[in-house]
Amino acid sequence: MLKIDLSNKKFLISGGAGTGVGSGICQAIAACGGQILLNDINFEKAKEAAKEYPNAFPVPGDISNQKEVEQIFKSIKSEHGVIHGLVNNAGVGLRKEAHLAEESDFDKLYNIDVKGVWMMAKAFVNQLIFNNIKGHIVNVSSVHAHETLSKYAIYASAKSAVEGLTRGMSIELGELGIRCNAIAPGYVDSIQNYEAAVSWTDNPESFFEDQRNEYQSLRHAINARDCGNITVFLLSDLARSITGQTIIVDAGLTNLLHANSFIQDKK
Ligand SMILES: NC(=O)c1ccc[n+]([C@@H]2O[C@H](COP(=O)([O-])OP(=O)(O)OC[C@H]3O[C@@H](n4cnc5c(N)ncnc54)[C@H](O)[C@@H]3O)[C@@H](O)[C@H]2O)c1
Repeated sequence: MLKIDLSNKKFLISGGAGTGVGSGICQAIAACGGQILLNDINFEKAKEAAKEYPNAFPVPGDISNQKEVEQIFKSIKSEHGVIHGLVNNAGVGLRKEAHLAEESDFDKLYNIDVKGVWMMAKAFVNQLIFNNIKGHIVNVSSVHAHETLSKYAIYASAKSAVEGLTRGMSIELGELGIRCNAIAPGYVDSIQNYEAAVSWTDNPESFFEDQRNEYQSLRHAINARDCGNITVFLLSDLARSITGQTIIVDAGLTNLLHANSFIQDKK
């Protein structure tokens, strides 16, 4: 039987205390026997979230701050030793037109979603090189790197940068046997997304069901665990020949030219 076995390996997941994608990634890594080092800027949330997985430890730190990134890796080195995988999941959004956004909006988003991803990847790779071991990176991008909406131009550009970084680093790290890939989730069914949707629809449930029926080729809701399952595949040796790629986890959303109802045969 083919199984993904991550036992005896340690994985650092940034933003792992999030109720969205990060929780599905932690669940999937734990289900494959991997040990979780759960980073989050919110240490209280990280401590609570770490209790949900066997043998998991919270690691506080802001990935957008160079000194805190150094501290994250210093504390991991002294308390847990070598880590074998990094999932750059922490990220924030921005819902504002590019021509109306402030410099502070742009800086905040880019500092976390782009600079943070680079700083974490850099520190992780250098600890692999220092310990002379191989390990792998999965960055969390978004469908917005491929298609986007009004008010998401800056977020879309940041996620495009994440995919560029993924491709470029995969080339630089290939000779070391280190793989670097990304996942690009579509709209993930999660508590915080549901709560956000209340601001634009009175009935999120039927709104999202209608959206799926119109704009996805697969009609089910994408959940965080779907993202986690692809992430563990990319972290595992099953993906040994895949690097520099982004796997779009969108139930077929970005391939559709028009809404599903655009052409319907006459009955
Ligand atoms: N939710 C979706 O539908 C969706 C779709 C596509 C991509 N994504 C991406 O998935 C990732 C997770 O998003 P989510 O929606 O699940 O978010 P979430 O808000 O549930 O989780 C994000 C976590 O990151 C933490 N965080 C924020 N800034 C941080 C920092 N500077 N340092 C360390 N931790 C920090 C937050 O405290 C939070 O716990 C993001 O990169 C996001 O862009 C999400």
